[in-house]
Amino acid sequence: MSSIPFGIWLFIGITGALFAAKAIYGFSIALVLPATRGALYVSTARRRVKAFLDAVDLQPGQRLVDLGCGDGRVLRAACRRCPVRAEGYELNPLAFLKARLLCLGRSRVRVRLKNFWNVDLSSADVVFCYLFPDVMNRLARKIQRELKPGAMVVSCNFPLPGLAPAHILRPGNSLTNDPIYVYRMPAKATDPG
Ligand SMILES: C[S@@+](CC[C@H](N)C(=O)[O-])C[C@H]1O[C@@H](n2cnc3c(N)ncnc32)[C@H](O)[C@@H]1O
Repeated sequence: MSSIPFGIWLFIGITGALFAAKAIYGFSIALVLPATRGALYVSTARRRVKAFLDAVDLQPGQRLVDLGCGDGRVLRAACRRCPVRAEGYELNPLAFLKARLLCLGRSRVRVRLKNFWNVDLSSADVVFCYLFPDVMNRLARKIQRELKPGAMVVSCNFPLPGLAPAHILRPGNSLTNDPIYVYRMPAKATDPG
């Protein structure tokens, strides 16, 4: 054993650690797949976070919710920009732990291990999501039912069926130019009686 050079041990150690990290990442995604319906734990690029924060004009004290917050980067970026109350919900245990660690000491950020379908959005001012086409119909219904007029919704990559976006942003270069849909909730239709 002692005849194996240190470099080989180092290579085996690094390769093993990388493999273990990938396996844990894959397992954490597979574990929650029935609930997340294809929305994998992938973070939004910082450039894209900046672009939609520029578009929503946050005000101090507002409630911002990230539905499926991943490692919480949207929450932290929003709080750096403006003293909002930022809330994130996440089911993936790995993403949740990372978000909790990275958000330690930030009193305005709250991250919970919870299914966002069970969260009441009626007092939210800004809702952010980066999910998957399979859930967008259901999410559009929830948003139309719960959000107050004037609230803003930002959806990365996938539109909310039945809602007309106020803006479609395309930050990035020609390779990563997926749309970001920005919505403002209209006044609720009044019952004609
Ligand atoms: C594409 S990632 C986006 C992460 C983060 N919002 C960002 O933009 O960096 C989508 C995340 O939503 C989470 N997710 C999907 N469905 C969820 C649900 N019903 N409740 C809580 N989290 C959910 C997934 O686990 C995944 O981490």
